[in-house]
Amino acid sequence: MTRFARRVAGIEVSGIRKWFEGAGPGSVNLGLGQPDLDTPAHIKAAACRALEEGRTGYTPNAGIPELRDAIVEKSRRENDLTYSPDQVIVTAGASEALHIAMQALVDDGDRVLLADPGFVSYAALATLAGGRPEGLRLDDRLRIDVEAAKPRLDGAKVLVLNSPANPTGAVEPVDSVRALVEYANDAGVTVVSDEVYEHFVYGGVRAVSAACFGENVVTINATSKTYAMTGWRLGWLAGPEEVVAQAIKVHQYGQACATSIAQYAAVAALAGPQDCVAAMRDEYEARRDFLCDGLDALGIHVPRPEGAFYIFAPMADDLVRSIIAGGVTIVPGEAFGPGGAGYARIAYSASRNDLITALTRMETIIND
Ligand SMILES: Cc1ncc(COP(=O)(O)O)c(C=O)c1O
Repeated sequence: MTRFARRVAGIEVSGIRKWFEGAGPGSVNLGLGQPDLDTPAHIKAAACRALEEGRTGYTPNAGIPELRDAIVEKSRRENDLTYSPDQVIVTAGASEALHIAMQALVDDGDRVLLADPGFVSYAALATLAGGRPEGLRLDDRLRIDVEAAKPRLDGAKVLVLNSPANPTGAVEPVDSVRALVEYANDAGVTVVSDEVYEHFVYGGVRAVSAACFGENVVTINATSKTYAMTGWRLGWLAGPEEVVAQAIKVHQYGQACATSIAQYAAVAALAGPQDCVAAMRDEYEARRDFLCDGLDALGIHVPRPEGAFYIFAPMADDLVRSIIAGGVTIVPGEAFGPGGAGYARIAYSASRNDLITALTRMETIIND
């Protein structure tokens, strides 16, 4: 008998955290997808009100009714999706929503398809659920190669979509999302669509919700990135009632409910003014352009990513290591899957000052 469960012992600590924790003192951190911007004041005020009013106990497992209603209304307004409150589970961030979705859907040996490179949690959570993660190839614009993906869907259990994507910043065209969802659903595959970066799209590009194109789609989202609320741990899952009926059990026993105060804050976020989101979007777009121009001047040429807050730059392994050793934390592409080899992810969710320092240090390293 082994001491630890194989499905846990067999997965690695996240490559991103590893690099972040291994960074030297004074290192500029362009490694974590962590907005440096503060949570907007009206959202904080709602949390303070909830505290003062003593809303500090357990909430219903699936979340407070006001928040589930706000999620239903947000989904209608922004995503053209019709959900009832019974189709929504409020979770501790998108991370927990992804976890309970995988636990609800994936059985031992089930094939789970995900982009390679892709967000680190997908393969780990699929493995923890007993499944077999399989990478899908990206094309030269770092989007899922739809024609190559189609035959792989036959016999798979889950397809994870993430647009705008971490780590590439790629936004899947509407036609690709439609084709993937329709093909997956016809093949009996449930689509799990992680839309946490939906608002961070640039240059008139549109991110579309996968659930617009099929019934068998679980939507994952969070206030984390949209409202600079990563530490509040607030997300949700919305999907077919039969999926929700299974996922709620995992949530109930593993988490009970999302933090009560964060739930009241999330009502203010989703139902309140949205100009803060537009302002953050504009700021990220300006940072993206600044960083792309700076990299270009250093001879690192990257097509401008259309979304999220990451640049996935082609970069030799030894240059990545020199940059990290030289005081700029970035993440080697293979942390996101074998398909990421030869690239590095650079997050521009850091302040402009940090971006300037990072580019200055990179210039010294490259010119040495
Ligand atoms: C694509 C993607 N999904 C989910 C998450 C996790 O979000 P949360 O902080 O809401 O758990 C992240 C965080 O980096 C992410 O990049």
